[in-house]
Amino acid sequence: MKVLIIGATSAIAQETAKQFAKEGADLFLVGRNSDKLMAVQQDLGVRGANSVETYMADLDQIDQHPSILEKSIEHLGHLDSVLVAHGTLSNQQACQNSVAETLKEIHTNISSVFSLLTYLANYFEDQKRGTIAVITSVAGDRGRQSNYVYGSAKGAQTIFLEGLRNRLTKSGVSVITIKPGFVDTPMTAHIKKTALFADSKAVGGKIYQTMKQPRDVLYVPWFWSPIMSLIRRIPEPLFKRLSL
Ligand SMILES: NC(=O)c1ccc[n+]([C@@H]2O[C@H](COP(=O)([O-])OP(=O)(O)OC[C@H]3O[C@@H](n4cnc5c(N)ncnc54)[C@H](OP(=O)(O)O)[C@@H]3O)[C@@H](O)[C@H]2O)c1
Repeated sequence: MKVLIIGATSAIAQETAKQFAKEGADLFLVGRNSDKLMAVQQDLGVRGANSVETYMADLDQIDQHPSILEKSIEHLGHLDSVLVAHGTLSNQQACQNSVAETLKEIHTNISSVFSLLTYLANYFEDQKRGTIAVITSVAGDRGRQSNYVYGSAKGAQTIFLEGLRNRLTKSGVSVITIKPGFVDTPMTAHIKKTALFADSKAVGGKIYQTMKQPRDVLYVPWFWSPIMSLIRRIPEPLFKRLSL
């Protein structure tokens, strides 16, 4: 199995990568922090990966995206699967106070993801097989006052992936929309932990299983599917008055 992982230093992505390493996969890891990338590379090698190559890129630099794909194919020969995992949890208040901050968040969480997916979609469409998996969020299922900049970016990813799936199904390419709820990772280190928080290992393991046996949408843990289904059904005249 030849797997490209974009945002490979993410705690969730690392847990998914460990499962791929265990089966002896060939991995191409992309991230912006060379020390972290090297640590992940070493760890995955010890865990049984057949090969682990790294590539340093700030994913906000969209002009670097074509070389990510080129280098990964040069190294792996071809791609069976890609996981797109990078993202930032926007500071809602800072975004409300600054258009520049909002646009920075939109750039990382929408523009860079759409750019990568445009290149990846064309590659997989030509190849006529493979799996594209992207970590969006339950936050994209409905806008809330506490995080609508992040939520709208994740919602945009979700719609983009729906369209991509509709386009690529006939080419034999799977497109997986991954929607985690709260996960205990560096991204949420500042948030008080509740019973709703999941462990990154369990979430990464589930993502691995789903990339091996693709389905369209993965809520992880599973209970977010009924929760979000209920939340989506709350009528807007009532929803707009809630403090969420
Ligand atoms: N944790 C949650 O509760 C939760 C819930 C739903 C969805 N998600 C999503 O899950 C994904 C992974 O997040 P995580 O929880 O694993 O958090 P994390 O460990 O903080 O991972 C976020 C990753 O994004 C990378 N990144 C951000 N901007 C980047 C850029 N411009 N260029 C390159 N890399 C960049 C970070 O790189 P550095 O290591 O260099 O900072 C880091 O590896 C994200 O898309 C997040 O939105 C998380």
